[in-house]
Amino acid sequence: MNNKDNLFDISFPLIAAAGPYSGNIKGIKRLYEIGFDYITTKTITDKADYISGSIAIKNGMTFNKDGFSNINFSDWIISLKHFHLLDRVIVSIFSKDVEEAINIACEMEAIGVKYIELCCSCPTFGEEPLCFNEVLLYEYCKALSSKIKIPIIVKLLLSTEEKKNRRMVEIVKKSGCHAVSVTDCLPIIEFDDEGKFEKKGMTGDFMKFLVLKFLEDTKEINFPKIAIGGVSSSRDCINYFKLGAIGVGQCACLYTKGVSDVIDTIKRTKQILEEEEL
Ligand SMILES: Cc1cc2nc3c(=O)[nH]c(=O)nc-3n(C[C@H](O)[C@H](O)[C@H](O)COP(=O)(O)O)c2cc1C
Repeated sequence: MNNKDNLFDISFPLIAAAGPYSGNIKGIKRLYEIGFDYITTKTITDKADYISGSIAIKNGMTFNKDGFSNINFSDWIISLKHFHLLDRVIVSIFSKDVEEAINIACEMEAIGVKYIELCCSCPTFGEEPLCFNEVLLYEYCKALSSKIKIPIIVKLLLSTEEKKNRRMVEIVKKSGCHAVSVTDCLPIIEFDDEGKFEKKGMTGDFMKFLVLKFLEDTKEINFPKIAIGGVSSSRDCINYFKLGAIGVGQCACLYTKGVSDVIDTIKRTKQILEEEEL
């Protein structure tokens, strides 16, 4: 399965990354109509207290304090079970408790879900993303991959350190999971108008240069990588593919650029992919 040709049934898919739009079935349908090949759900957890919900756009940057899905896991099961686009859905999951994560993944597999994304990247609540703890990352991924058969994509937060980027990908590969996706929002601190600061996630144009570096850092590792972060044009998508990504994900552009711009980006990217025969 560690082969770019059999992870997805579409070459070079364009993927809607987990975000507010993919927080329910209606949003997922809309993202499919917009032209995405696959849609990643907002991260589904076993706990409802992860909800918080805010997104702000300033100076071309997106600040995320959106939390995980506010629809609980059993309601997701009900709505996904007979969903006609289930083949196009990547279900993003997270739990601090690996047994709970296994339970969510097993139930998703049982209803016919085709892909799981394990969210090991989330910095939104001011905690260290799980992916930076190498021992935990291995144990978590290994436990999950030994229990479910469908492909598991492990979402990582990139590091500025080349060695760390390589280590994370090697660990996921060794664990038996099937791909990595990178990246989430970067952990930052922002002051509000009253002078108080808050921990948040941030994305924007700058992200693409870091994602490109991640792809370059890890290019010798033969393992499927999905590149997410900072995409705002077809050229950005193509550059990710050229540096070895097997798929490209987008999220904030739906807010920063707007839906019609995203539709154009998808169409244009598909055109270039045909013309350039990557
Ligand atoms: C408002 C907002 C909510 C998000 N929610 C999730 C989430 O539930 N799960 C997840 O893995 N990533 C989540 N993300 C991260 C995105 O999936 C994506 O990885 C990140 O925003 C970088 O891509 P972009 O620059 O195209 O937005 C969220 C991002 C934003 C801006």
